Amino acid sequence: MQYDFDELIDRHGTLCTKWDNLTERMGRSDVLAMWVADTDFPCAKPIQEAIQKRAAHPLYGYSFVPPAFFQAACGWMEKRHGWHVEPEEVRFFPGVVPFIGVALRALTAPGDRVLIQSPVYHPFAMMIRENGREVCSCPLAFDGERYTVDFEALDRALADAHVTMMILCSPHNPVGRVYTREELERISALCIQHGVILLADEIHSDVVYSGHKHIPVASTSPEAAMNTITCTSPSKAFNIAGLKASGIIIMNPLLRDKIDSEISRTHVSTPNAFAVAAYIAAYTQCEDYLDQMVAYLEQNRDCLDGWLRAQTPKIRLIPSEGTYLMWLDCTALGIKGDELHRFFLDEAHIAVNKGEIFGPEGANFVRLNIACPRQLMEKALGQLKQAYDKRFA
Ligand SMILES: Cc1ncc(COP(=O)(O)O)c(C=O)c1O
Repeated sequence: MQYDFDELIDRHGTLCTKWDNLTERMGRSDVLAMWVADTDFPCAKPIQEAIQKRAAHPLYGYSFVPPAFFQAACGWMEKRHGWHVEPEEVRFFPGVVPFIGVALRALTAPGDRVLIQSPVYHPFAMMIRENGREVCSCPLAFDGERYTVDFEALDRALADAHVTMMILCSPHNPVGRVYTREELERISALCIQHGVILLADEIHSDVVYSGHKHIPVASTSPEAAMNTITCTSPSKAFNIAGLKASGIIIMNPLLRDKIDSEISRTHVSTPNAFAVAAYIAAYTQCEDYLDQMVAYLEQNRDCLDGWLRAQTPKIRLIPSEGTYLMWLDCTALGIKGDELHRFFLDEAHIAVNKGEIFGPEGANFVRLNIACPRQLMEKALGQLKQAYDKRFA
């Protein structure tokens, strides 16, 4: 069916973090919310219908994960990513971030070092520290235009005997890279060479733009499959993050046993009453929605890029290959960190994520979420232009 991504839907009053929690999180509510990573698009019809059907039954007791969940996960990976996964290699877990905690506790020891490539999704560092491990930061290389992996630095960092796990964000939030096969093969090979387990967070794998292709790092070789744990979820692409349903793919039986033991210690591995219905509907009936949404997002991205170049040239979009999170280089404005964030918030009235939260390399940047109807994005850009002209033109 044809979906209308231009429709403006007021999300206020739904306890939604992005719009309803602005005062607590940003200090003011009179701003356009373009921060936290969910979309302002209604879910695909089959997801709404699956939820409505389940909700119509008046009992909401304990649920379990049926075989259809695992089949849906495997079917999606095969069809969209050309990756063959067996049902017994998949685990349900209510959220990728909580699962990262499970993986850290199951596969590393207190005091171990865990490598991340900053600037990167900030809960990685939080989970590492909160679980009593140390962050080993190995920043991406940035030539002023594009981010790449600094393989020499990565090799050196992984050689540290205290580094036992690497968390890869692929596609990368916030810099928007969709890694190439060659990059993924090299990352995986270095991890294997240094005896470091690779945890691949591939939650953004379904939002990838023309000219790029997401490749699951575990699919790059049989050795990679044995050394990788892959976190996936329909939550970003289908806007069901509030339903808490992710699929974790673990092909190595030894790692799987360790993970299973830790999962059983959490006692949170059962799904809420709606999670499975939405997950299965997303992965079996909503490809048309995804294709249309990605095309729409690509137009939003191009519109943003053209607009910034013409109207606010001191703010640059780092080329975005995937994800709906745009990484804006504001170095030329001459303000950074809190002051930069406050400019967007107090002068342009746009809630963005402060670049610094993703790592110190992000001080001159902000992250802007463009998963919204175009007229909302254009309104935000108009506000940005006014504030920019007043202060920087
Ligand atoms: C890279 C990445 N991983 C994980 C998450 C959150 O996952 P979950 O809601 O399943 O915990 C996000 C959300 O923005 C993300 O960008």
